[in-house]
This record gives sequence, C-alpha cells and structure tokens, in this order.
Amino acid sequence: MIKINENYLKLQASYLFAEIKNRTAAFQEAYPDREVIKLGIGDVTRPLPQACIQAFHRAVDEMADDKTFRGYGPEQGYMFLREKIAKDDFQARGADISPEEIFISDGAKCDNGNIQEIFSRDIKIAIPDPVYPVYVDTNVMAGRTGSHNEGRYDGIVYLEGSRENGFIPELPGEKVDLIYLCFPNNPTGATISKSRLKEWVDFAIENKAIILYDAAYESFIRDDDLPKSIYEIDGAREVAIEFRSFSKTAGFTGVRCAFTVVPKTCVAYTRNGEKHPLHALWYRRQSTKFNGVSYPVQRVAEAVYSDEGKLQTKESIDYYLKNAALIRKEISALGFECIGGENSPYIWIDGRSDSWKFFDLLLEKASVVCTPGAGFGKCGQGYIRISAFNEYDKVEEAMARIKEALKA
Ligand code: MLT
Repeated sequence: MIKINENYLKLQASYLFAEIKNRTAAFQEAYPDREVIKLGIGDVTRPLPQACIQAFHRAVDEMADDKTFRGYGPEQGYMFLREKIAKDDFQARGADISPEEIFISDGAKCDNGNIQEIFSRDIKIAIPDPVYPVYVDTNVMAGRTGSHNEGRYDGIVYLEGSRENGFIPELPGEKVDLIYLCFPNNPTGATISKSRLKEWVDFAIENKAIILYDAAYESFIRDDDLPKSIYEIDGAREVAIEFRSFSKTAGFTGVRCAFTVVPKTCVAYTRNGEKHPLHALWYRRQSTKFNGVSYPVQRVAEAVYSDEGKLQTKESIDYYLKNAALIRKEISALGFECIGGENSPYIWIDGRSDSWKFFDLLLEKASVVCTPGAGFGKCGQGYIRISAFNEYDKVEEAMARIKEALKA
C-alpha cells in the first residue's frame, strides 16, 4: 500500500494566497459588474524595464542561431550574471561576497523552501510570527514540527512581532539552530538597523546557528543607513545564507530569476561535531535537483545591472513607493495605525478587528483585495497587509473606496 507523507495533513487547508484567490474569484463570480482592485499578493504590475526587454530579444535571437545557441548552462548560473551580482549588490556595499558563492535560481520562494533539506530533521527552528508562510509550511512538510494547535505548530520557536517591538522580534530566550529573518519584512514592511541585525549575527555565532536571511525586498530600501544585505554585518559570512530575487526588484514575477548566497565560510555540523561547508551541500542539492535558469532569462537579469537597467528599475520601485506613501497617508488619515511602506512595498495596518472579517468587508464593500494578517500567523491577527503593487490610479481609487466603505 502506497503511503502519503502525513506531514502534509498537518498543514492548514490551503496556502494563504490560494485562499485569497479563491475568495476573490467567488466574489467576482457573484458580482461580475464590480471591478476588483487587487492589493493582496505582492505581484508586480509594471512591464519589464526596456533594458531587460532588449536583452531578452537579443538572447532569444542567439538561441535561434546554431553558432550562439546554448543548451544546459552551468549549475550555479552563468558567470556573466554572478560577477555583476557580486560586484554591484555586495562588494559595492562593502560586503565580501564572491561570484563563486552565488547560486542563480528560478525564485526566492523555491530556495527559501528547499534550503531546509540540507539541515538535519531534528534541529530547532526559530520563525518569526507574523511570517511569510513558506518558511513554516516547508518545515511542516519536512516533518520538523508537531501538529497545529491554536494557530501554532508544536516544535517551532516563534519569534513574536508586535506593535510594542515594532515587529522586530527579540532574540530567542533559548538555544535554536536555524533562524529565519526577512528584512524589509514581508508581511509587516518593518526594517532592521545594522546594530539590531548584528545582535542576530552574534547570537548565531554564539549558538553555532545559521540565519536564513530573506532580502527579497532590499531594493525598496531608500534609507542609506539600513543594511541591504546581512553580509554588511561583521561575522555574517560564517553564519548566514541570503536570498534575493529579481521579482520585485525588476518585475520578474512572471520571468523567474533569483539567487541565493551561500558563503564558503558558512558551516554546519555533523552529529559528531565535524564542520561541513554548506556551500558544498547546497551545490550538491542544486546540481542533483535543478537544471538552472534559462540562458535568455539570465541575460535579462544581467541587464538589470546595466546603467539603463539600474535607472529603469529604480524608476519602477519609486513608482511603487509612491503608491505605498499614498496608502500610508490615506489609511493613517482614517485613524488606523500602520507600519511599513517607507522602505518596503507592504503596509501593515492594525484593523482593530478580526483579520478575515476585515478582508471580507473590504472585498464586499469596496471591492478591494488585501491580505489578512492572520494568514501570516497568530501575531498577525487583527492586522491586514496592503500591497503597493498596482497602478497609481488604481491605488487612489482603492483608497477612495475604502474611505467610503468604512464611513458606511
Ligand atoms: C507576497 O505577497 O507575500 C509575495 O508576493 C509572495 C511571494 O513572493 O511568493
């Protein structure tokens, strides 16, 4: 008799964004005349930068010619892209990362979800709450947790975010082995200072732990004092793996390209206490299970680092940040407290009511889709997340409708 992985049965009924999609589809079916404005899932709406489009065309033409055609690429990604990343994203900010330490992939979600495979099943994991659900669910699937009780999985150390701590969790009060951090944060939009991040790096060094640092939203940072990479912090090369993505930076959600940095100095241990470089394990995992990102797409990602690419991606991010500023202003004017939206595309709003009820209210009364905070964990209850990814006039319209809906 074939048996299933019963860990899957511990998962909540559906993935958060799938549930939102279903509720929105049901609403649209019931009210086909109402125009729904989506400020839920963080999906970009602006087209790819021109520099990327031109690079795409050129690379497709190369694939049409037998002299320039390419088959399988290098497992870790093409050097032309890894060199640009190492230089512009890291070395230019004083972070000592080499091209050899970068792995090109098809998404930060996949890498964030897959990385746990290289760690033992019996490690102790610390995960923020509220949190991007992928970190939790992938560990549940792998059997690293007990069952789900009152909004929490047994076996996880939850790092609580709250209004009081500005959604920057305190260090865990116990020893943990693997720590998930995400800044600028999804879902709260909170950012972390270098000194606070240093505390986490020091904690990891002291506890022989590893930090999984999700920096998918770093391009929204406009405050020069904030770290864009964990490797701007001394000691992080020994204890941190960083995830980056072109999805939000350059509008690649439908193109698919991201990268993960595993420094060669980053180690974990065998049962006997022997050190093992994680770079070698991740390389082994990727070369067995992954065949890389297509050549044209890697050329498109390379174009993000050209002078025009940098200018055009910055323009797009500025556009979304303008949306975010408008959302913050309008929501605050309605008397709601919020954070985020300044160095982040997400605005985290205290709805002062049940998250899903607030979600339903905005959908039914304003035809606006947001994301209920409760979907990100117990500490998200009472909050909603509004995303700045949409056209400015749609955001304006959504804010006007929310104002009306809340008046009624
Ligand atoms: C989100 O809305 O949280 C993100 O778009 C989800 C993702 O990037 O996978």
